[in-house]
Amino acid sequence: MRRVAVLISGRGSNLKSLIEAADASYKIVLVISNIEGAAGLEKAQASQIPTLVIPHAGKTREAFDAELDAALGADDVEFVALAGFMRILSDGFVRKWQGRLINIHPSLLPAYKGTNVHERVIAARECLSGASVHFVVPELDAGPVIAQATVPVHRDDTPAGLAERVLAVEHTLYPRALKWLAKGEVFLKGGLAVFR
Ligand code: GRF
Repeated sequence: MRRVAVLISGRGSNLKSLIEAADASYKIVLVISNIEGAAGLEKAQASQIPTLVIPHAGKTREAFDAELDAALGADDVEFVALAGFMRILSDGFVRKWQGRLINIHPSLLPAYKGTNVHERVIAARECLSGASVHFVVPELDAGPVIAQATVPVHRDDTPAGLAERVLAVEHTLYPRALKWLAKGEVFLKGGLAVFR
């Protein structure tokens, strides 16, 4: 059973889906938030999962990431899942964890990296959107995609409505991808996510 840490900054609905889907392949041993009072922390505590808040204010990116890395090391964490973690990680941290660090993003990457995704998808009159789970590399939202799920965009969609439908598919997509990773069925090779 692989030891997984989940990093959050907010609501934690993806964290909840990862907690509920945990099986013999992985165990969430630690939830870390950079924001005190993030709602996701309560979701972890409700499942008796240890939580840690590492505030980022007044710290360099490297100092914050060193604290993060130390906490992960102290708990023998093997894989890290970012779930609404709203902080860019330093190149050094990402390189150290490369292949063991994944994220979920609410678009069909490589389209619509960054923030305000649903607003931009609707403004562009796209017919299709979705969610992507990807390995994290130093360049933001640019890592090799492990799994995607598509969601139709409605003609009269609103960012909130589209976000809700994308989030619903995130909640099945992320646990599936994490299980592949934990079981060693998927790995990072030559800049691609490949099956064993
Ligand atoms: C999700 O839409 C995820 O794709 C993005 O941030 C949001 C996090 O939501 N990275 P939650 O905190 O998991 O509810």
